Amino acid sequence: MDENTMNNLDLYQLAVQHPLSEAFFLSRAYEELNDFQQASILREDFCGSAAVSLAWVMTDPDRHAVAIDTDAATLAFAREQIDNQPDQVGRNVKLICEDVRRVAPPAVSHAHIIASLNFSTLIFKTEAQILDYFRRCLKHLTPGGIFVMDLFGGPGSKQVGIANRQIELDDDQTITYHWEQRSYNPRSQDIDCRIHFTMPNNTVRRDAFVYDWRLWEVPQLLSLMRQAGFAKREVWGEQIMPDGQSSGQFEPLDQLPDSKDWVVYLIGQKH
Ligand SMILES: C[S@@+](CC[C@H](N)C(=O)[O-])C[C@H]1O[C@@H](n2cnc3c(N)ncnc32)[C@H](O)[C@@H]1O
Repeated sequence: MDENTMNNLDLYQLAVQHPLSEAFFLSRAYEELNDFQQASILREDFCGSAAVSLAWVMTDPDRHAVAIDTDAATLAFAREQIDNQPDQVGRNVKLICEDVRRVAPPAVSHAHIIASLNFSTLIFKTEAQILDYFRRCLKHLTPGGIFVMDLFGGPGSKQVGIANRQIELDDDQTITYHWEQRSYNPRSQDIDCRIHFTMPNNTVRRDAFVYDWRLWEVPQLLSLMRQAGFAKREVWGEQIMPDGQSSGQFEPLDQLPDSKDWVVYLIGQKH
């Protein structure tokens, strides 16, 4: 395969996604909050390539996933990837092209877990929008079900600049992933983030992905989850060990990480 012709979704998967770890994390969080009962139905909102849904069903044939996104071309890419798996492992993934605020049973069944990952919840910029979304998620969870979203923060998250990371390919070629924080407005919390890639032949895919987000703070989101009716709200992150290294395992935190940049999961549980 000529890496220079890979499409942006392939590059995104290589650069930022760890679907098996995410699926493992989701099941562990559900079990810990539900006396070790297991979740079987995942709803993946803003699913993009639906990689987490695929990982979810691949790890257990009794699991089902519903993956939702508004972008038909992205869902066509997801469908192709799922259908290309051996032994029809993706047969338990259902893709729905719709706004996450419009889906409802019977098109989607009540889920044990609703996940909104890769910071997708940040597209909602007003309290009214996010409350409406949280309330809809709560309504479509089973009792004890959990809503999981990720969030980045820390002083570094508000600084304008570009972080670069090299991605080594199997044939010793290299792609560079560039994460740009182009602007941040502390009053509105609006943040403009972009992903660019430099390909092995040095061509640059500028603005491969562009995100117009509101960088909500943890207390704001926890308060909105409470207003929406989530019985329990938790923040999960990596513990920092006495030697300054992170534990590599996400667990409930009493306080936010004391680092320049952090990523946490916010989890809301239904009664
Ligand atoms: C940040 S990407 C996340 C992709 C995905 N979580 C992943 O890891 O590949 C956001 C995705 O949300 C989709 N999207 C944006 N607004 C949406 C909405 N209201 N309902 C459903 N999908 C939406 C976009 O098409 C895009 O694929």
